[in-house]
Amino acid sequence: MAEWKRFDYSNAEKILEAKDVVVKFNLRGRVLTAIRGISMELYKGESLAIVGESGSGKSVFTKTFMGLLDQNGWVDSGSITYTGGAFSKEGIDLVPLKQEKDWLKIRGKEIAMVFQDPMTSLNPLKTIGKQIQETVELHQNLKGAEAKKKTLDILTDVGITDPERRYKQYPPMSFPAVCARGW
Ligand SMILES: Nc1ncnc2c1ncn2[C@@H]1O[C@H](COP(=O)(O)OP(=O)(O)O)[C@@H](O)[C@H]1O
Ligand SMILES: [Mg+2]
Repeated sequence: MAEWKRFDYSNAEKILEAKDVVVKFNLRGRVLTAIRGISMELYKGESLAIVGESGSGKSVFTKTFMGLLDQNGWVDSGSITYTGGAFSKEGIDLVPLKQEKDWLKIRGKEIAMVFQDPMTSLNPLKTIGKQIQETVELHQNLKGAEAKKKTLDILTDVGITDPERRYKQYPPMSFPAVCARGW
């Protein structure tokens, strides 16, 4: 059984800090405030659980870290500073990022999301292999056979048996094992 250990904050490196984040939506001509000044810090290696009743704003809040708010929503005030990975020196405020090309430097590379419902978040028309390989090609500068090899390694790493066969399968029905891991 895994040993439970309290996270050691003494030398911990902060990688994400949200301060007083306010998120609003335009809804049928009215402005609705969904998040009213939420702050949090996340340290490297730390697991942080955000708990709240359905509709309290967990998804809306965390989608702001990846530029994934619905079209009618925006971060109205506050800051979200990422200081992990490639941004560990200078840091980057995620709130002003508007363009997709800027988000692509973050999303899937620095910050990723495992969606709750794999049956609707996976593309049923694309093979498992292609869906994983897309991220590998985009962010790891690999192509063709190399990208495929990396994709097979990833499948193997998470305990998927017969990765070559799984690579060619489509998500929903044929592949509950992958769906359960949220791909
Ligand atoms: N695109 C949107 N337009 C208007 N309101 C939205 C939109 N997306 C989410 N909301 C509202 O934001 C609130 C928080 O929702 P959500 O973050 O999904 O809650 P949780 O993930 O905690 O269950 C809810 O009241 C929801 O209706
Ligand atoms: Mg949610």
